Amino acid sequence: MWKYLVCSIFATTALAIWPLPVSYTNGSETLWIDRNVRISYNGGDESSDNTWTSKIVNNSIQRTYDTLFNKNFVPWKFHQRNSDFEPQLTSDATYITSIVLQQNGSDPDNVMKPDVGDVDESYTLSMSSSGEVVITALSSIGLSYGLTTFTQLFFKHTRAACAYTTLAPVEISDKPMFGWRGMNVDTARTFKPMADLYATIDAMAYNKMNRFHWHITDSQAWPLVIPSMPELADQGAYASFQQYSAADVQALQEYGALVGVEVVMEIDQPGHTAAIGYAYPDLIAAFNYQPWGYFAAETPAGTFKLNSTEVPAFLEKMFNDLLPRLAPLTSYFHLGGDEVNANASTQDETVRSNKTEVLQPLIQKFMDRNQHQLAAADFTPLVWEEMLLDWNLTLPLNTIVQTWISEQSVLKVVQQGYRALVGASSTWYLDCGHGDWVDHYQGADARQAYPYTDWCGPVHNWRQMYAYDPLEGIPDHLAHLVIGGETHIWSEQTDAMNMDTMLWPRTCAASEVLWSGAKDEQGRNRSQVLASPRLNEMRERLVARGIRAEPVQMPLCTMNGTQCVV
Ligand SMILES: *[C@@H]1O[C@H](CO)[C@@H](O)[C@H](O)[C@H]1NC(C)=O
Ligand SMILES: *[C@@H]1O[C@H](CO)[C@@H](O)[C@H](O)[C@H]1NC(C)=O
Ligand SMILES: *[C@@H]1O[C@H](CO)[C@@H](O)[C@H](O)[C@H]1NC(C)=O
Ligand SMILES: *[C@@H]1O[C@H](CO)[C@@H](O)[C@H](O)[C@H]1NC(C)=O
Ligand SMILES: *[C@@H]1O[C@H](CO)[C@@H](O)[C@H](O)[C@H]1NC(C)=O
Ligand SMILES: *[C@@H]1O[C@H](CO)[C@@H](O)[C@H](O)[C@H]1NC(C)=O
Ligand SMILES: *[C@@H]1O[C@H](CO)[C@@H](O)[C@H](O)[C@H]1NC(C)=O
Ligand SMILES: *[C@@H]1O[C@H](CO)[C@@H](O)[C@H](O)[C@H]1NC(C)=O
Ligand SMILES: *[C@@H]1O[C@H](CO)[C@@H](O)[C@H](O)[C@H]1NC(C)=O
Repeated sequence: MWKYLVCSIFATTALAIWPLPVSYTNGSETLWIDRNVRISYNGGDESSDNTWTSKIVNNSIQRTYDTLFNKNFVPWKFHQRNSDFEPQLTSDATYITSIVLQQNGSDPDNVMKPDVGDVDESYTLSMSSSGEVVITALSSIGLSYGLTTFTQLFFKHTRAACAYTTLAPVEISDKPMFGWRGMNVDTARTFKPMADLYATIDAMAYNKMNRFHWHITDSQAWPLVIPSMPELADQGAYASFQQYSAADVQALQEYGALVGVEVVMEIDQPGHTAAIGYAYPDLIAAFNYQPWGYFAAETPAGTFKLNSTEVPAFLEKMFNDLLPRLAPLTSYFHLGGDEVNANASTQDETVRSNKTEVLQPLIQKFMDRNQHQLAAADFTPLVWEEMLLDWNLTLPLNTIVQTWISEQSVLKVVQQGYRALVGASSTWYLDCGHGDWVDHYQGADARQAYPYTDWCGPVHNWRQMYAYDPLEGIPDHLAHLVIGGETHIWSEQTDAMNMDTMLWPRTCAASEVLWSGAKDEQGRNRSQVLASPRLNEMRERLVARGIRAEPVQMPLCTMNGTQCVV
């Protein structure tokens, strides 16, 4: 016989899964789980063969134990002040007896580098009152999402060496709304140590995000080691200890592949390339020219020469080194293309013009060369929106166009038949509102710039990020072309010290929009009153994972779900 312990009447714990599942029911019975719980996969123990499916399943099982027993938290903040909220561990307590993982389908061969839509990410989770847990999914990634959800049902106990839930029985059926749920991390303007990148991917996976966009180079620094061209990073990185080796890149790709987060690298070009000029001055026009505001969006100015024969030769060699190394673990490459500055080409002796009609064919040719090499290596290209919407380039139809300038750009992209990513500077830029990073001389300039706000402020808080609907204004017949989106951390003022607080928990808000959609079952905007307690809890779970996520609210609010509703 089993018995359950009814939790305290003061308990305000909600089913706090983040992002919200498509459908779920819960009860209010208590179950316990300890380290002896067995997690089986398709009727056996952990698989020991060396397929990606086995590695993904195995890894997600290990992460489940680690999360439940090493990275869990005591939910005191979600209960009345000084209340006795914890269930008592009695001798007749009911334990989870088994966790059965059932994969109904087989993974595609490219499960470690899927295109959007290749991997079915859905899962079901059933937890009975008597402690039987069954997670089903068509793919290994679906199973890992099911296990992630499972861990979010459990809390650490202050006295017992096991974890508990007060929500049994639970039935969940879940799948994402958008296929591309990403974050763009700039590691050029400031370097991010590998440990921080691993932690970021871990936190992304815990939010069921699946694309890590690595903006690895820019005008300020080139930290990416290209082994056949060592001078690039040796001269272009800020310092010799701020480089990403080929082994680093591969290790991050592997780490991501195991948790369903594909690492998608961007080498921004033809603009944003000044750092190449340290090793290859002949390739770059207007290198560090002043006033930089005439020649680039940001200092230092510098852009690829657009009509030089040396630039294509450089790109050919660089990509021939890089792409084959990336190919085993990603299907995508981002070719950049934002903020091309026409004036810089007036300083380019191969062009000597800033006229649109002169530059447009040269940029088209530049793009065509890159696209051709990417296609030959079997990559799907991404570009920033200007390539399509400002320069009107002809792009292969499989190109994914990343919008950022305005929310209205999304419609313009899909109307032309291209797939679009959302994440405009007005909503999903994480860096905005931190204030100016440029200095102003005393006098008129400083007076005019006072109070030194930045171009995209104020800060986009989680509520604003949560209120954004990627499908706003998109007609139904084009909605399938909006494949997802990304938050962005441009890093003039973000390095390892403040990275976590800049990213989390605000990126959680975007992750829920991308997984669950911005509208509830009745088609209404999702309620921040309902989201807030769950986000508060997700924040605690991220902190327990070692992520220094900002608080969402003070305990006064989280202790009473409506205290802080106005
Ligand atoms: C589901 O969980 C919530 C939050 O703990 C609780 O208020 C509710 O009563 C539970 N549902 C059932 C049917 O027990
Ligand atoms: C699965 O994990 C175990 C450790 O728990 C390890 O010994 C085994 O090699 C792993 N198998 C694979 C395929 O990674
Ligand atoms: C897997 O198969 C089981 C049994 O047929 C079914 O109940 C479950 O819904 C399936 N899961 C998925 C994700 O298709
Ligand atoms: C280009 O340079 C001219 C000065 O030569 C300046 O007036 C103009 O604003 C610059 N354009 C851009 C886009 O910076
Ligand atoms: C081109 O240069 C002229 C002369 O400096 C300047 O007035 C104009 O704004 C420039 N055009 C662009 C697109 O930058
Ligand atoms: C590009 O370079 C070629 C060869 O030097 C030259 O013939 C052509 O006029 C140049 N195009 C422009 C737009 O300057
Ligand atoms: C691209 O097309 C838009 C809209 O037709 C137009 O305003 C813009 O000038 C064009 N740009 C170029 C570089 O041709
Ligand atoms: C719902 O959100 C959209 C933004 O996505 C906003 O324009 C609209 O006003 C909101 N509707 C309500 C009823 O709040
Ligand atoms: C919780 O907040 C509501 C609304 O402010 C208030 O009416 C209620 O008394 C509070 N409950 C407790 C136990 O503090």
